[in-house]
Amino acid sequence: MFNNLEPQQPDALLAVMAAYAADTNPDKVDLGVGVYRDATGVTPVMAAVREAEQRMLDTQVTKAYVGAGGNRAFAAFIEELTLGAGHPARAAGRVVTLQTPGGCGGVRLAADLIQRAAGGARVLVSEPTWPNHRPLISGAGLVVDDFPYYDPATGTLGFEAMLDALARLPAGQVVLLQASCHNPTGQDLSPAQWLALADALERQRLVPLLDLAYQGLGDGLDADAAPVRLLAARLPEVLIAVSCSKNFGLYRERVGAVIAVARDASQASIVMNHLQILARRMYSMPPDHGAAIVATIAADPALKAAWQAELEAMRVRVGTIRSRLAAALRGEFGSTRFDFIEGQRGMFSLLGLPPAAVQALAAEHHVYIAGDSRINVAGLPEARIERVAKAIRAVTR
Ligand code: LMR
Repeated sequence: MFNNLEPQQPDALLAVMAAYAADTNPDKVDLGVGVYRDATGVTPVMAAVREAEQRMLDTQVTKAYVGAGGNRAFAAFIEELTLGAGHPARAAGRVVTLQTPGGCGGVRLAADLIQRAAGGARVLVSEPTWPNHRPLISGAGLVVDDFPYYDPATGTLGFEAMLDALARLPAGQVVLLQASCHNPTGQDLSPAQWLALADALERQRLVPLLDLAYQGLGDGLDADAAPVRLLAARLPEVLIAVSCSKNFGLYRERVGAVIAVARDASQASIVMNHLQILARRMYSMPPDHGAAIVATIAADPALKAAWQAELEAMRVRVGTIRSRLAAALRGEFGSTRFDFIEGQRGMFSLLGLPPAAVQALAAEHHVYIAGDSRINVAGLPEARIERVAKAIRAVTR
């Protein structure tokens, strides 16, 4: 049987992680995979997470199954964190939430649900988008297409071109939108552009699938969720994939959610029923540990405040690194070519370098970035900023 299998290229980002791990140079810098690192280069366990884990260790009495929907206290908290306490769709009982294995699990379950409801439907993603979006969606049997979003050569958003492309879509198509901290570009829509987009989606009767993977790392917890809240208030059907990897630092625990906003409460309950069946037949039940940590933090106001404060400090620090890297590159290049890094949000920016320069960064300077020249700004310790700026200058000569 296995001799029918052709060798495959490894996932490009995982290959960058492996190449970095294999490099023995002590001065190596990893700006590949999207993880936050502190000034010492460590991806920390957040203090509130550590405290929650300790409490769980002391008090948890069973590891029995939780259920296909996952931890319900977690789901209620994530729904409120995403949509806000008084959201009209929640008040109307139109919202259901299912815990998933990471944000990827949320995207994949959303795609499976779309496939059940509208077999073979087309889902449009931004060009560029996070590379795993396409396989997650096509793996469910859906067709993936794209709409123009960003020009890496100029570091600017092409909003008019995006609206033009969406205006040509037939009703019922699904559009995957990143709510904040766009991966890989770092370039988000402004609040006014989200309003114009909401108009276009409503007019064309398109269904948004929102990916909310970096809530709290862009402009703050509420500001980053504002596009989700807007679309959930304006449109009859919205799907949202949420990740706790970045904002709780729970990467390896694989905790996230899929939230569905339906036309009314009775359709919402049917949607939940389908989501549970889809989860059951794919992985049965989600892992509990990460969700239990989040639920423990959510249940204690002091722990929740500590988590929010630590997340806010991370967010502010990423903004500072952005400014300092842009300044260092301005110094190296004597131009404003990379100033866009400062105005963008979240963990990533696209440098707009050709593949040869990306390879030279790794081979000659031990600086590892994604193949599309995406850098993880949040992974750059302050002490390495000048060195990285010099390396970028060297490979673009
Ligand atoms: C990233 O974009 O680097 C992260 O979301 C990790 C991943 O799985 O790709």
